[in-house]
Amino acid sequence: MSGKNWDRVPIDAQSIDAPLSMAAVFLVVTVANEASALAKVCSVLDGLDDLVKTVGFRDLSGRLSCIAGIGRELWDRLRQDKRPKELKPFAPIKGPIHAAPATPGDLLFHIRSERPDLCFEFERILLDSLGDAVTMVDEVSGFRYFDARDLLGFVDGTANPTGLDLPASALVGDEDGDFAGGSYVVVQKYLHDLGAWKQTPTPVQEEIIGRTKIDNIEIDDDDAPRKSHKSLATITDADGNEYDILRDNMPFGRPGHQEFGTYFIGYSRYLWVIEKMLQRMYVGDPPGAYDRLLDFSTPHTGATFFAPTRSTLQMLAQAAPEK
Ligand code: HEM
Repeated sequence: MSGKNWDRVPIDAQSIDAPLSMAAVFLVVTVANEASALAKVCSVLDGLDDLVKTVGFRDLSGRLSCIAGIGRELWDRLRQDKRPKELKPFAPIKGPIHAAPATPGDLLFHIRSERPDLCFEFERILLDSLGDAVTMVDEVSGFRYFDARDLLGFVDGTANPTGLDLPASALVGDEDGDFAGGSYVVVQKYLHDLGAWKQTPTPVQEEIIGRTKIDNIEIDDDDAPRKSHKSLATITDADGNEYDILRDNMPFGRPGHQEFGTYFIGYSRYLWVIEKMLQRMYVGDPPGAYDRLLDFSTPHTGATFFAPTRSTLQMLAQAAPEK
């Protein structure tokens, strides 16, 4: 989506393949019912590309990027004749022990940069422009933690697709030609019980995740009595083809409030792939053998969006107010 010119001008809106960053802000908002609110939102979405340039150009090495995702209800308000084939609201899941709630969300903004101040500045101007057309549902500032570790201490993101596998896994293709180049995005804000995690011996933590803690080596758990997080999140079809997603999870927290979290964000060519991962995590494989990561990590939000290409986003934004 971004072209391959990061070294020349490393800024772009809707760049799902933008590099993993040191800092990120995740904003989820709802849009007020009035037509004037929708018109305001459309005008801001139309100008998102310019706003990325306005802020990002002040330090090109900061690699500011922003992806806007649109939820199903807002999509229907914007343009009712065509919609990404799989776009639907987040389906809550009830497993035997753990549940994943669905929470409101019309728009997601995933703001990334090497510099937290660039993320902050972009967010400040963005929200100023949106004004009372939107209501904040959730706002999380994430940070890269040492060698891309989550707050449980494990390196997170290793199995992400790279090179040509990245667009093949994360971007819609010819199967939905009108929305090719876009991506389904699922977000969940998890809070960890770090006290209980610390009481868990490292070998058990490694069994739960499916990788060693210090050096991040994958553990073969094909014959293990209980599948790890890594194995439950591995999706294959009947022919043995594996389906990956692109994750850009970020730790966040406020130690003074005992708040320690992981903001999960997954981009996928097919929404069903993330849904199947969630089913396997919460319901378990076999059913009942759920992901033990959930004994220490509780989701507080859950929402699904579609991030269109920059040109589709502009087309939607320009067309909608006339309807
Ligand atoms: C508390 C939230 C979560 C944490 C802390 C977490 C952490 C991790 C870690 C440490 C790994 C192993 C290293 C890696 O390959 O990245 C991993 C793998 C993975 N996770 Fe998660 N994860 C979380 C939630 C989720 C959710 C909700 C999904 C999907 C819906 C997911 C999908 C995956 C996938 C696809 C892999 C790679 C599996 C493979 O090896 O092919 N994760 N996660």
